[in-house]
Amino acid sequence: MRTVRAAVVNAVRDAVRVEPLSLREPRADEVLVRLGASGVCHSDLHVITGDLPMPLPAVLGHEGAGVVEEVGAAVRRVKVGDHVVLSWVPYCGSCWYCESGHTHLCEMGYVKSLAAEVFTRDGGAVGQLAGVGSMAEFTVVPESGCIPIDADIPLDSACLVGCGVMTGVGAVINTARVEPGQSVAVFGAGGVGLNVVQGAALAGAHPIIAVDLNERKLGLARAFGATHVVNGGAGDAVAALQELTGGRGVDVSFEVIGSPDVILQAFLGTRRGGKTVVVGVAPATAMVSLPGFLLPLAEKSLVGSLYGSADMARDVPRLIALYRAGKLKLDELVTRRFALNEVGEAFAALQAGDVARGVITF
Ligand code: APR
Ligand code: ZN
Repeated sequence: MRTVRAAVVNAVRDAVRVEPLSLREPRADEVLVRLGASGVCHSDLHVITGDLPMPLPAVLGHEGAGVVEEVGAAVRRVKVGDHVVLSWVPYCGSCWYCESGHTHLCEMGYVKSLAAEVFTRDGGAVGQLAGVGSMAEFTVVPESGCIPIDADIPLDSACLVGCGVMTGVGAVINTARVEPGQSVAVFGAGGVGLNVVQGAALAGAHPIIAVDLNERKLGLARAFGATHVVNGGAGDAVAALQELTGGRGVDVSFEVIGSPDVILQAFLGTRRGGKTVVVGVAPATAMVSLPGFLLPLAEKSLVGSLYGSADMARDVPRLIALYRAGKLKLDELVTRRFALNEVGEAFAALQAGDVARGVITF
């Protein structure tokens, strides 16, 4: 047992508090990680607001990177001193999904980590957001939730690969498999959406149209590869997409906000036979309503994308290699750094739209 400081959400809409918690030793297949950095993602905010229900109290943070401090007896893939990116879908390796090559859909690893009870306070369990809990000085995660990276990669940039970058780039490359020359629209140019934009640029898409309400985000979208930007608050975004694509609509549109209204806009802005990919997480109680006749008559498809459909063991090294080659922007995403005890300000900055990504550094 060790005592660690962690950012805890105790109840829906409660202020986030930094508290001392007890952290247990890693079990045979687990790893103790000293956090270097944790990104502040909108999904953390969804948990605070109750839009994404999870058992509380819980340690926030699911976009982390750090250094391995201790390993359980059966751990083989990482060793003490390794630098690692944390994955929020640890996988079991033996269920139907893992064996069919879809580790990101494994439920067993996630269920197991939800029951891991690594943090406690006065004898009662405190959960870990998405089984990670990276807004803490240390955390304990399953071995399959740790992906080793080279030690010279800055942890405050690398942590973003643990959620926003993988989710965004992976949605383009793995889920939608965008082809060179395809037209793409991205609704929501935040911490995840900017990575959909840069993923589309990597894939050779053209045009790449970013839609947001915030001019600052639209400026960032241009820097990340958007060829056109549309302020969704200033006019009809669907009409703007049609105008930029010969009246057809885009080949592939991505919704990266989690708004049923915007999912509808993304669907309407997609061409006949095109694909709408939903990355944003809508509130758990929200329903999405679409003109049903367009599904068959315009042969449109609507698909979800979880964690960029990633195989983390394969894709984290790929993204880090692209970063090293100067082809993937990570440093540029980090617009503000916060200490752990500034976590309240970090969420305020996210809510105000002041940051591409805020990162808590330890
Ligand atoms: N139309 C266009 N843009 C919008 C709208 C809207 N109606 N509402 C919000 N936005 C923009 C915001 O201005 C912001 O730039 O969406 C962006 C959201 O970005 P972030 O707050 O940084 O959120 P992010 O961390 O990127 O997460 C986005 O993806 O993984 C999910 O749970 C996550 O649902 C969340 C979504
Ligand atoms: Zn996230």
